[in-house]
Amino acid sequence: MPRSGANLVNLEKVTKSYGVRILLDEVSLGVGEGERIGVVGRNGDGKTTLLNLMAGRVAPDSGRVSQSRGLHIGYLDQRDLLDDTHSVREVVLAGKADHEWAGDARTREVVEVLLADVALDREVHGLSGGERRRCSLARLLLDAAVLLILDEPTNHLDVEAVAWLAEHLVRRTSALVVVTHDRWFLDAVCERTWEVHPGPQGAGVVDAYDGGYAAFVLSKAERQRPDSTKYELFGFDQTHVLTALGSYKLTADLSVGARFRYATGRPQTPVEGALFDADRKTIGRRKGAPDAGHRDAG
Ligand SMILES: Nc1ncnc2c1ncn2[C@@H]1O[C@H](COP(=O)(O)OP(=O)(O)OP(=O)(O)O)[C@@H](O)[C@H]1O
Ligand SMILES: [Mg+2]
Repeated sequence: MPRSGANLVNLEKVTKSYGVRILLDEVSLGVGEGERIGVVGRNGDGKTTLLNLMAGRVAPDSGRVSQSRGLHIGYLDQRDLLDDTHSVREVVLAGKADHEWAGDARTREVVEVLLADVALDREVHGLSGGERRRCSLARLLLDAAVLLILDEPTNHLDVEAVAWLAEHLVRRTSALVVVTHDRWFLDAVCERTWEVHPGPQGAGVVDAYDGGYAAFVLSKAERQRPDSTKYELFGFDQTHVLTALGSYKLTADLSVGARFRYATGRPQTPVEGALFDADRKTIGRRKGAPDAGHRDAG
């Protein structure tokens, strides 16, 4: 739910096609101030296109995209767009000398965490893929955007940097729309989940769920018939869904009713029972830290 005021961005019946494929078909949604939304979906189903439409980088074929007046968006592109002809200091810190930025605690933290091993006067040309990604991210996080749109920010980050980024984003007051395949990250950061996927007729739709990835998996599994042997989730089978849930703070994302049923061992449906069992089996593993071996959402 938006915390206050009108939405920062609204999509009203937005349709976008490339060639014959309708990636998004009359999609309506909005991002409120301070909301943190995770976007999931299979490769090529239109997640980046959705972000580009929201940011006004791509125009819809029909429908309307509106942004609040003067909205400042910080966008982390899925691709690397860093300028090779500049130094890290120029790209990340607008060329400021150390004494000009070191007094600012937020800048220091971002530089110390993301660029600990990158000399600021190095040329961007010659940095590794991971170093370049961290430069892009550092630059973005130092910007006072009201809405951050991040397309796969955790790519090339190590586990510690992912954990720091999650904590940083939760601490910020800016709204966030983030595409990632990192399930731990989605659960740690996001309060809502949008799934981009082809609808029954093949044209793309976006379904909205409350909560992070675990809550999304649970809601989605519950929408399937309980006697079905396969829960269609990114095309994976039941075993995968249950394994996927293993490393989640599942109960934290559940509704009050579901938490009560979990606590009293009285699931409402066979699906819920299976999910609770899977969660209990892995409770010892869940300490809130990212688990590199159990992270990919799809
Ligand atoms: N500018 C474009 N011109 C033509 N086709 C495009 C364009 N942008 C995207 N597409 C196509 O639209 C589809 C969705 O692309 P998009 O990048 O939005 O998907 P995605 O969900 O972000 O995928 P991934 O998980 O691989 O990042 C793909 O088939 C892609 O090739
Ligand atoms: Mg993409």
